[in-house]
Amino acid sequence: MIYITIDGPAGSGKSSVARSLAKELEFEHLDTGALYRVAALRWLRAKNREEEPDKFIEKMSFTNFELKDGKIFVNDIPLGNEIRTPEVGKVVSKVAEIPEIRDVITRKTRELAQNKRVVVEGRDIGTIVLPNACVKIFLTASVQERARRRYEEYKSKGVNISFEEVIREIKSRDRIDSTRKVAPLKAAKDAVLFNTDGFTLEEVVDRLKNLVMREIKKC
Ligand code: DC
Repeated sequence: MIYITIDGPAGSGKSSVARSLAKELEFEHLDTGALYRVAALRWLRAKNREEEPDKFIEKMSFTNFELKDGKIFVNDIPLGNEIRTPEVGKVVSKVAEIPEIRDVITRKTRELAQNKRVVVEGRDIGTIVLPNACVKIFLTASVQERARRRYEEYKSKGVNISFEEVIREIKSRDRIDSTRKVAPLKAAKDAVLFNTDGFTLEEVVDRLKNLVMREIKKC
């Protein structure tokens, strides 16, 4: 197995970079933000049904996640765009603060990554989830640039949201993600930092691929 971790804030380009880098390296790709989004969607639904919070945590721990051909399956159902809505975006950081949920998703991530050559992206992958990873990357970008990317993503999915709202969402997520008590967003001591402002996706992936090819020999 070979683990490459990519951590960074919302909209830093993590997902596109992780997906392309995995493709270039012929590795699997695992987006752990998607697992937290599944939890957030479940939490919204449980709240609508006025279920006990403990029941929601228990259900998450019994949920079966699988990674097949780059797609995540939740209890055998392929994950779709239902987790990429502004409603989920608004609550996901809060749900990701629940220590029991972090424990469940950390365990599931390790199980999914086991025995694979995989690029795993998230917030705490290099620090907490896979501290022995072969190569650790921490991507950053300015708030304006990250909001612009997230806004384009929403627009391409037909989501009705203003640019100002996206800026607010990004700033609020940054604050919650980096100040939470459990597994806050931060670069691992041995991570390579990369600010993607002004770089195209191809340029970022190209540089990271060269870095990984160099480092992988030492793992
Ligand atoms: O990458 P994303 O924006 O889809 O992530 C959604 C949320 O999940 C984000 O607010 C932070 C949280 N998250 C986390 O706390 N730890 C991870 N490893 C991945 C995501």
